Amino acid sequence: MSEPIKHLKKLGDLSTEQIMSILNLADQLKYEQKHGISHPLLAGKTLGMIFQKASTRTRVSFEVGMYQLGGNALFLSSRDLQIGRGEPIADTARVLSRYLDGIMIRTFAQQEVEDLAAYGSIPIINGLTDYAHPCQVLADLMTIRERKGSFKGLKLCFIGDGNNMANSLIVGCIKVGMQVSIACPDAYQPDAGLMAWASQNGQFAVSSDIAAMVKDADVVYTDVWASMGNEGEAEQRKQAFAGYQVNDAVMAPAKPDAMVLHCLPAHRGEEITAAVLEAHADEIFEEAENRLHAQKAVLVMLMR
Ligand code: CP
Ligand code: NVA
Repeated sequence: MSEPIKHLKKLGDLSTEQIMSILNLADQLKYEQKHGISHPLLAGKTLGMIFQKASTRTRVSFEVGMYQLGGNALFLSSRDLQIGRGEPIADTARVLSRYLDGIMIRTFAQQEVEDLAAYGSIPIINGLTDYAHPCQVLADLMTIRERKGSFKGLKLCFIGDGNNMANSLIVGCIKVGMQVSIACPDAYQPDAGLMAWASQNGQFAVSSDIAAMVKDADVVYTDVWASMGNEGEAEQRKQAFAGYQVNDAVMAPAKPDAMVLHCLPAHRGEEITAAVLEAHADEIFEEAENRLHAQKAVLVMLMR
């Protein structure tokens, strides 16, 4: 048994054992759901979901996940909450802790997630910040293990912007023992502290030499070039990332049976070609489905 988990603020806070416990429970919940076995483990509990940015997958999978676990979910747009008019996070945390059993938040600054956890008294889940996207990477790891059988000896290569996805993939993959490489322009590298940690704790490489980074990869991962909040830089980024598109030529040095993953939404013709995306649609949409199962495991571990 792993230590109990209080919050999911970022993957760096979790031990390897805690990550594996979440993945094992996710597999079990997926099996039960597919076989019509109900699991009302959170009956009577309510999750608040604060969104300061758009979402399709995160919103729907958390809401459906709570429903399947016998609980309720409240969609709280920051446009409607008093947060949008300047009410401090610290006050919001103390008030919502008195009504809810857990909060999922999607926002810009990681500090807001940390503050909610510090001032509130209920579990806090990071549903994406500019720094991290831990829920996505738990679903990614679940998908990789489902398809490859284990993490042993696997290499993941992330191509593109050193953003929240790159940051969380570095931590998640290193924690489960995978090798990680990042192919990105020098000006768009992932978080420096995380890269230093990865170099000390696993097999990690970062370079603008795409072919060298992709070589022998078992999993090739990409994400949009302009994340939510970077829309104003879209044109500048298109130029900076030209050449970092996941296409047949870029895939060539990877292993012949390499998987392609994408957190979605995808911009065909930018970070990935339509041909590569469609050739790997099975695994990419399974990855999206696994958001539901992985997050249900997180909800159970935090809120039960
Ligand atoms: N991948 C992901 O988090 O998707 P949404 O932005 O649609 O939630
Ligand atoms: N890096 C992207 C991920 C979307 C799921 C963003 O932050 O917009």
